[in-house]
Amino acid sequence: MGITRVGVVGCGLMGSGIAEACARSGYAVVVREVSEELLAKGLARVEQSMQRGVQRGKLASDEARAARARITGTTRLDDLAEVDLIIEAVVENMPLKQEVFRELDRRCPPSTIFASNTSSLSITEMASVTSRRDRFLGMHFFNPVPVMKLVELVRGLQTVDPTMTAGRRFAESLGKTVVVCKDSPGFIVNFLLVPYLLDAVRALEKGVATKEDIDAAVQLGLAHPMGPLTLLDYVGIDTTYYIAEAMFQEFKDPRYAAPPLMKQMVLAGLHGRKSGRGFYEYTKEG
Ligand code: 3HC
Repeated sequence: MGITRVGVVGCGLMGSGIAEACARSGYAVVVREVSEELLAKGLARVEQSMQRGVQRGKLASDEARAARARITGTTRLDDLAEVDLIIEAVVENMPLKQEVFRELDRRCPPSTIFASNTSSLSITEMASVTSRRDRFLGMHFFNPVPVMKLVELVRGLQTVDPTMTAGRRFAESLGKTVVVCKDSPGFIVNFLLVPYLLDAVRALEKGVATKEDIDAAVQLGLAHPMGPLTLLDYVGIDTTYYIAEAMFQEFKDPRYAAPPLMKQMVLAGLHGRKSGRGFYEYTKEG
């Protein structure tokens, strides 16, 4: 199961980071978005991130140029027919993800491994619409992908050992540390993280403290790199809301029920850093 060519479906925050990390590690990458506009936006994000990497001394400018040249953008799923591994990073919506995999399953040879970067949805359920349930796994990256060192590898009910081994080798070749978990909503990180983030919003709703003080308390009192409301803006309030909803549907546990303020912010388009405003406001410079 040698992997040299990687397909990434979706070039949003996660998809663009995954495409960048793969290209920086020498893989030829085909990344697909639904429109030319979204594709251009995603590829611009890759370039900005690589420039940041160059400025921070993490990669030489000729390496950045070479990595960028390894990425091909497309709006056609047909262009993913010849890759060895596909990593799906579209929005957290099961019917949409299943539709993507159903279409890819028709186009790709049986040897292509399918992976989903889902944060909370069932790998087994996604794999069920394909003819390769044994060569299907979860590969959950963290934002910002080029910086964060973890990948959660998720074994679906029918995923076989060689698929897990290929997934591990691939993730490690990107410089990531792998943890393995079963197909359980939220896997390890979001099982723990989501209730904490929702509690931070509840604390704000209840007037426990200002947003700045909630963030400062966690950042300085617990030595986290970001406070929870800043992290919500960073990950995306919409993304976290969809993750929480999916986990609530599975567990029916109120710890995963998104607070009303979050729902209102999603409906109002206050999605965090990417939309210019969430709990905080962001200028172009950040
Ligand atoms: N390429 C390579 N390296 C980069 C880079 C890039 N584009 N941009 C930054 N870096 C490196 C820097 O060189 C620096 O490395 P060093 O520590 O060796 O010097 C390091 O990354 C930190 O970068 P900066 O100094 O520019 O920035 P900050 O110190 O402000 O850190 C941050 C930014 C990494 C985003 C930090 O605030 C952080 O870790 N925040 C928390 C992020 C987090 O929790 N992510 C997980 C979210 S949950 C998730 O994704 C799951 C999903 O399912 C919800």
